[in-house]
Amino acid sequence: MVEWTKEARYQKYEDADQQYLAELTERVNQSKYRQTFHIQPKSGLLNDPNGLIYFNGNYYISHQWFPLGPVHGLKYWYTYTSKDLIHFNAVGPTLKPDTNDDSHGVYSGSAFEYNQHLYYMYTANHRDEDWHRISTQQIAKMTKNGEIKKFPKPVISAPPFGYTQHFRDPKVYEKDGTYYAVIAAQNIDKQGRILQYRSSDIVNWEFQGEIQTNLDDFGFMWECPDYFNLNGYDMLLFCPQGIDAEGDQFRNIYQSGYIMGQYDMNQLTMNHGDFHELDHGFDFYAPQTFLDEQGQRILIGWMGLPEINYPTDEDGWAHCLTIPRVLTVEEGNLKQRPIKALEKLRSNEETALGYANKFTKQLHPYEGKQFELIIDILENEATEVYFEVRTSKTETSLITYNTKEQKLTFDRSESGPLPNPVEGTSRSTYLDTPLSQLQLYVDTSSIEIFCNDGERVMSSRIFSGEDATGIKTSTESGQVYLRFTKYDLKGDTQ
Ligand code: FRU
Repeated sequence: MVEWTKEARYQKYEDADQQYLAELTERVNQSKYRQTFHIQPKSGLLNDPNGLIYFNGNYYISHQWFPLGPVHGLKYWYTYTSKDLIHFNAVGPTLKPDTNDDSHGVYSGSAFEYNQHLYYMYTANHRDEDWHRISTQQIAKMTKNGEIKKFPKPVISAPPFGYTQHFRDPKVYEKDGTYYAVIAAQNIDKQGRILQYRSSDIVNWEFQGEIQTNLDDFGFMWECPDYFNLNGYDMLLFCPQGIDAEGDQFRNIYQSGYIMGQYDMNQLTMNHGDFHELDHGFDFYAPQTFLDEQGQRILIGWMGLPEINYPTDEDGWAHCLTIPRVLTVEEGNLKQRPIKALEKLRSNEETALGYANKFTKQLHPYEGKQFELIIDILENEATEVYFEVRTSKTETSLITYNTKEQKLTFDRSESGPLPNPVEGTSRSTYLDTPLSQLQLYVDTSSIEIFCNDGERVMSSRIFSGEDATGIKTSTESGQVYLRFTKYDLKGDTQ
């Protein structure tokens, strides 16, 4: 086993011992937790999705990558292209830490189109001799033959006065020919903020100021901001760090959510309601959005969190991206639905209609490890309904619906080995409307639960045994009448 000293973490992929890499890859390929329809690292650690864009007939999807082991070290961008967001071609590492400014990592950033070319704006992370962080914002351009060429110097060379070096994750958007970048920041009072810059030529960026929200004291850092207008609502997404849990909310180590309302991009004022979590599961962070071929707003997140050990660590890899979701605002509420293209991965449809009650143990003859399961709740007179997947004699992943409280809970206490340290073994959310549908996407080591046609999502990693393939439903008391539709899902990301 490697001891992850500073030197080991900041070793370059290009300089890594070939024998070490071959053994690492072998170990990863043998891992029983490898996913089949989620983007995952071929070795080492994946984190934030980066540079998402539909450009010239192709989707470009990159992610933060430390290739040499399941820890946060010297970060690269690893890139895929795709025609449909369900099949992916690996391009490989595209942005590498090969300049003085990004000597300690090519950190997160976004993609945009300018004069018919694809550009990236990203954070270059440098550490000086005393290990002080120096963050600059850089631009790179994709040339006609697909090569990525960095600009010779940073376009934003330092945070503005009054902010610390926690200054990163530029998300570029364009409005009426002007380019804007929202950037994650921390003020010198150690409060998370979002700063906005503006440019007409993408080379010269003017600091406009800090976005005014009513969340003045809401954590010590806000990572990965994103701004867009959706169905007439301005949406500001970000990942606050350092917020206390409130009941069932904010239970993960760091949060990822949004505020919505009206944003004045010149005055930098955001009139908004409460901060809402985007996802109510255990493993979701640092999402980024982009527009697809049809102009729909798509979100992809990192199905993982920092500072947690995962059971795949011993197999030499960690984390994956979520499936892409379509975002809309309907009657003032954000909806998140799986992209339609996922239907193309379906095979072996099985359906069943029936009652479940306290005594039902194994209503469903079918089973699986990689599947989509749609459960329509047609009548519900039960006090609590228990949906279980990935069950075996010793394991189960349990979704409980409490009818009276309209509360949905995901419990992974018996799912298998658990990530750690993680607070608690269940996550809950109160629904806006009674439970009418669950749509589950289960891959080898994850579950994404979409509820009531986009009303809530809960994403979690689960590390169940290979024999844990059963699906069950039962109730506490009373009965529930259900329709099940199940498909095997055959992806090719393994
Ligand atoms: C979020 C984050 C970003 C940063 C990147 C480094 O997970 O901390 O703020 O750019 O990861 O990998």
